[in-house]
Amino acid sequence: SPDGIPSRTVVLVGMMGAGKTTIGRRLAQICGLPFVDADIEIERAAGCSIPEIFARHGEASFRDGERRVIQRLLDGPPCILATGGGAWMDAQTRHLVRRHAVSVWLRAPVHVLVKRVAGRAGRPLLAQGRPDEVLERLVGLRYPVYAEADIIIDCGDDTVEQGVQRVREVL
Ligand code: S3P
Repeated sequence: SPDGIPSRTVVLVGMMGAGKTTIGRRLAQICGLPFVDADIEIERAAGCSIPEIFARHGEASFRDGERRVIQRLLDGPPCILATGGGAWMDAQTRHLVRRHAVSVWLRAPVHVLVKRVAGRAGRPLLAQGRPDEVLERLVGLRYPVYAEADIIIDCGDDTVEQGVQRVREVL
């Protein structure tokens, strides 16, 4: 849009550690749109943390909740929406995002992801093995599907401000 303020919800997709939350928060501030973090909305709806959801109910149940929460948010007013790294892997979610929003993949090389998520708790998938190996495997599975996003932004070693600028230029 001419004023750089998106008229539709902007859905940020990409791996854990790609910067969806950090860039999303800043972008929202600049655009004057609300920032919404799907992971936090899922935790709110479930009344417990993501690791607890995984441990008590399993990943499939988490994915169901994630799909429902994103669907609800897409029905609401425009916002900057950061989604969890697995959200875009759901075909129904992709379909809904295509209809109601613009999707932006924040692409970063795996070594950057490894650096950014190192030592950060709260991501149950990373506890399933060596974090670098888990990330490498997920990157292999997910990058071909993330590539279906409307817009792809390379934000590997960028600072937050550079990443935000790159996204703004294409919105
Ligand atoms: C996940 C990423 C997490 C969170 C959950 C699963 C994934 O979100 O949704 O732990 O499958 O990649 P972030 O990408 O915000 O870390």
